[in-house]
Amino acid sequence: MKNEVVWRCPSNIALVKYWGKKENQIPCNASLSMTLQHAFTQVSLQLHEKKEKGVALEYFFENQKNEAFGQRVQKYLETNAKFFPVLNEHAIIIHSTNSFPHSTGIASSASSFGAISLALLSASDYPEEDLRHQASFLARLGSGSACRSMFGGYALWGELPGVDHSSDMFAIPVNEIHDHFSDMCDAILIIDDEPKKVSSSSGHALMEGHPYAAVRFQQANAHCATMLQVLQEGDFNGLIQIIENEALALHAMMMTSEASYLLMKPGTLLAIDKIRNFRLETGIPVCFTLDAGPNVHVLYPAKHEEAVHSFLKSELAGSMKGIIYDRIGTGPEKMSR
Ligand code: DP6
Repeated sequence: MKNEVVWRCPSNIALVKYWGKKENQIPCNASLSMTLQHAFTQVSLQLHEKKEKGVALEYFFENQKNEAFGQRVQKYLETNAKFFPVLNEHAIIIHSTNSFPHSTGIASSASSFGAISLALLSASDYPEEDLRHQASFLARLGSGSACRSMFGGYALWGELPGVDHSSDMFAIPVNEIHDHFSDMCDAILIIDDEPKKVSSSSGHALMEGHPYAAVRFQQANAHCATMLQVLQEGDFNGLIQIIENEALALHAMMMTSEASYLLMKPGTLLAIDKIRNFRLETGIPVCFTLDAGPNVHVLYPAKHEEAVHSFLKSELAGSMKGIIYDRIGTGPEKMSR
């Protein structure tokens, strides 16, 4: 075993959204995502001699001690120590860095827990052939959406009737993908970079007793089933219809929960409107999705990159703080030998 293990794990953008969970990070519905390429967390895990009992962790984010996230990781490790034998014998130091700026709405908990699980399993000498599968199971326990970051391309999380190996416990790769969707781009429009007012965890909790919960969970499962087919057939209209509907359904849940809240900003609505008009006018298959925040993910095939970039710059530059250009990625990567 080496004294340092380094892993990179990408973030992912959900096309069908996970929103609502049961105990032990079991989702209320299936979700499906695209793994990103440039937005990743890199974790360096160093092993040291251990003097005390229990989990001994020092956690640094961008070279600074980060108490808040460090405590979340500490709790995660204490709860799941049995899965990471390396913790029995070693004190660990984690240095984590993100390739993307704070408060962009890119899910850093997904890429962080993904990278932490991979590094700890590697350091525990977990068999390589099953590493991503087990890391998906364990990353889920840290942050639900993290389980989908373990595979390149597209990933499905949640048990779906008729889909072999689909499970609430881990994500699986979606391998049957039409050429149309094998090279998709995601331009992230930073409409607002203020820290989130309502955490995802509080948002999930508001789905308990939500008047539309049952219908929403059914809808998301049906969307996953249709999306699997659409991805296989290369049906752009089908894909766009589901992706945009999912984004708006997610925000509709927030707006109609008992403690109602609204994360979209005027710039979000403007971008949505312009993207839809641009699609109508040009016939270019471009669409939007949203995470739990105001920023807009613009999705389009790489062959339309030039046209979409010049549209975004000329039509939307004034209503946003910046753009991050990302694209479909190949999944996590071990950086140390
Ligand atoms: C809107 O995975 O961040 O991005 O399990 O509490 O960590 P926790 O939640 P998290 O929720 C993600 C919500 C979402 C939709 C999605 O990624 O599917």
